[in-house]
Amino acid sequence: MTEQKATNIVWHPSLVKKEDREKLLGQKGVVIWFTGLSGSGKSTLAHAVEEMLHKMGKLTYVLDGDNIRHGLNKNLGFSPEDREENIRRIGEVAKLFVDAGVITMTAFISPYRKDRDAARALLNEGEFIEVFVKVPLEVAEERDPKGLYKKARAGEIKQFTGIDAPYEEPLNPELLVDTSKLSLEESAQMVVDYLKEKGII
Ligand code: ADX
Repeated sequence: MTEQKATNIVWHPSLVKKEDREKLLGQKGVVIWFTGLSGSGKSTLAHAVEEMLHKMGKLTYVLDGDNIRHGLNKNLGFSPEDREENIRRIGEVAKLFVDAGVITMTAFISPYRKDRDAARALLNEGEFIEVFVKVPLEVAEERDPKGLYKKARAGEIKQFTGIDAPYEEPLNPELLVDTSKLSLEESAQMVVDYLKEKGII
């Protein structure tokens, strides 16, 4: 649990509610939480889904691991504690976006089940859609788009997920997308179909 340091702070309720913003936008605010190994295709898939939704006139935003680590989370590394704090902050930011009525996508390895569950617990039932972007480690390593698996194998990067740091697979994700078997288009369509099925769009 993160310590509450500030005292004498009072929550200010807003007059315009989430439901009002959702009505304006014609969609529900949710977070689509993509999780999976580095190189599994989380970011690629999130951006493909975003493009499809944008074309349908939906308001979206992608929070992407590598980008957020350049700014908001630039003071965090890859120890279990730093990853926990990384995911905690993203969970809180995603919650704000969801409250804004935006279809929010997050693309972080988020390797620890308890950290993902803590992000889920910040939201209401149905607002957190966990998408397990599943590929065998060999496939992710073969793709190695940033050359990081090679470095990890050579011992140049420590605590690399899948090599010498764990990845805890989701036990009960809302969706499982195997990007080694489906095309990008098919994978993205699966996510969009889910949103339609649940009345989010
Ligand atoms: S998380 O584990 O805290 O969720 P996050 O998704 O933000 O990770 O960042 C992962 C990205 O950081 C990877 O795609 C990769 O580009 C880079 N990276 C650098 N070092 C590591 C490492 N030790 N383990 C995993 N990813 C790393």
